[in-house]
Parts: sequence; C-alpha cells; structure tokens
Amino acid sequence: MNLKTNYLGLELPHPFIIGASPLGSTLDRVRRAEDAGAAAITVHSLFEEQIQHHENGLHVHVHTYEESFSEARTYFPQTVVGDHYGPEEYLEHLRNAKEAVDIPIIGSLNGTHLGSWTQYATLFSEIGVDAMELNLYYQPNTDEETATEIEKRFTTIVSHVRSAVEIPIAVKLSPFFSSLPNFVRQLEKAGANGVVLFNRFYQPDIDLDELETKPTLKLSDSNELLLRLRWLAILFGRYDWLSLACTGGVHTRDDALKAIMAGADCIQLVSVLLQHGVERIRPLLEGITDWMEENEYESLEQMKGSMSYHNSPNPEAIERANYLQILKSWEPNGKVVIDT
Ligand SMILES: Cc1cc2nc3c(=O)[nH]c(=O)nc-3n(C[C@H](O)[C@H](O)[C@H](O)COP(=O)(O)O)c2cc1C
Repeated sequence: MNLKTNYLGLELPHPFIIGASPLGSTLDRVRRAEDAGAAAITVHSLFEEQIQHHENGLHVHVHTYEESFSEARTYFPQTVVGDHYGPEEYLEHLRNAKEAVDIPIIGSLNGTHLGSWTQYATLFSEIGVDAMELNLYYQPNTDEETATEIEKRFTTIVSHVRSAVEIPIAVKLSPFFSSLPNFVRQLEKAGANGVVLFNRFYQPDIDLDELETKPTLKLSDSNELLLRLRWLAILFGRYDWLSLACTGGVHTRDDALKAIMAGADCIQLVSVLLQHGVERIRPLLEGITDWMEENEYESLEQMKGSMSYHNSPNPEAIERANYLQILKSWEPNGKVVIDT
C-alpha cells in the first residue's frame, strides 16, 4: 500500500507525525518517536513569552500536566522538560534533534506579536530544521481590536518570516476566524506553505470551592475531530500550494481515515500518544492499510480529499441546510429521525 504523502513539500512515507508537545522535547523522546515509526516530529514550541523572558503560564501548565496524568508519568522519564527551556536551550535541542534522527524535524514558534519571529525563524533555518510551525495562539481580550487588525497582524508575521527564511512554514490556527477560507488564502499569499487545523485553546475553568480560576488542560477525544473534518473538507482543493495538517481528536484508525478523506495531508498525533505511548503509531498505520486494502484503495493520494466539499457525494451535509434538517430530526423522546 502506498501511504506516501507530501506535507509542506516534505515527502513523508505516511501521514502520521508527532504534534508539538512534550513528545518531542527530549532527545530520548525524539529517538523513540522515530523508532516507533513517526514520519516527522514537531518539537514543542518556543513561546513568545520565553523569548521575552516573561513568565509563561501555558508552559508551566504543560509541566503540571505531565505530572498529573499517571499514563504520562509512566510514559515519560522523570526529566521535566518545560521550565528549563529558554530560547538558547530550545535551539540547542533543535540542533541535537536534527542530528539524532533521520526523519524531518519541525520547529515551532508560538506567539502573536511581531517581535523576534524573524530572528528566531532565521536561527531555526540555520540549524537546518526541515520546516517551521508558527502557532498563532491568541485570545482577544479587548473590544478595541478588530478582527481585520488581528488578521493583518498574523499575515504580517507570516510575510516577515517568509522574507527571512526559505524553509517551509506551516501556520497553526484556531477555528475562530469569521471567514476562515479567506484568511487562509491571505496566509498563502503571505507565504505560508500549510495550515495546521486547529489549536486547542487552553481553557480555564472556575473552581467553585476556592472561587478562583483554575487552569485545565484536558487531552482530546475523537469528538474534537468533527470540527477539523468540516474545515479540512471546506479548505481542501482550494489553494495553490497549501498543505493541510489535522491536529486534534485523531485517536483511532477511523479518525485517521476520516481526516484524510476530508483532505488532510498529514495527521499530527499528541493526546493518543500521551495516553498510549508512541508505539500506538504502528497499529494506526496497520489499521489504515488494512482498511484501504479491504476497500480497494491503492494509495493515500487516491483517498485524500475524497469526502471534501468539492468531492463529497453530498456536500450539502457540510452546509447550513443540513443544520436545519438535523435540528428538526431531534424528537422529544430522544429518537433521531433523519430523512436522507
Ligand atoms: C501536554 C501538551 C503540550 C502541548 N504543547 C504544545 C506546544 O508546545 N505547541 C503547540 O503548538 N501545541 C502544543 N500542544 C497542542 C498539540 O500540538 C495538539 O495541537 C493538540 O493536543 C491537539 O491534538 P491531539 O488531539 O492529538 O492531542 C500541546 C498539547 C498537549 C496535550
């Protein structure tokens, strides 16, 4: 079975890559990911806050997370990765990771303001990483900033980085854009080679006993995939050269098949591997291979985008019309009646 795929111009033997996370944050983990069959590794992010020497809540939280899940604790060695990584250590890690394995290494920069992006992008590029991911993780918290201003800021970041480096650039996005297809088009014009759908926001909860906001970081489950499927399906086949990566909610063989049919060029795995270990990649690979053979596919390319908006036998299922139909189908006794 030919599972080859092209992501950001990188020829990969199959679509499963490690998403930005602690799974790529030590050399041992990087080597384990390659041994387990990952097609590429996205290293955890270097955060804008780290660059600015500010305290970084999310980063600390990643550390907290590692300590709090028993599966992760047994899976990860005791070394804690988050706190001691300043920009220099991060660059050193990228350099060592590149030397340690043969599969592509993708560096990740996480922030939203125009600042040191070009400088760090240049340093990434000099290290020889195969691509970089720009994670535009931003939560607006003022009523003075317009959507247009935010989008303009993001495209400016991408065009500055583009002018600084030649390596491929993927942009990791949240789903919260008024017109995602148009914004993605602007990113392509600014020089992006791909988009990664979607960031999972770090969503604080309220602790009713302590009456304080408490940080939470839950692993995903397959339900989160549906949002990705919809937008992959809408974006597939629309752009000149942009690759599409799916991140969020791929846990099973079926999730992976759906993501590819919706239009993903590659699938970034994190939660499933944190829960079950990187060794879960092989059963996923075998699963999609068996399914494709049974269903007479010869290659991943043949399957890619087959259920996208352009190619789907019923694209209206992606559209608003279906929304009405689904709402009307829900009966008070809980019986679902959908006319097809
Ligand atoms: C513990 C942990 C750490 C993460 N660290 C990063 C990070 O450094 N940079 C980033 O862009 N995304 C980070 N993510 C988000 C993942 O890359 C991924 O987009 C998200 O978990 C959804 O994929 P999943 O459903 O396979 O987990 C992290 C996620 C987890 C669970």
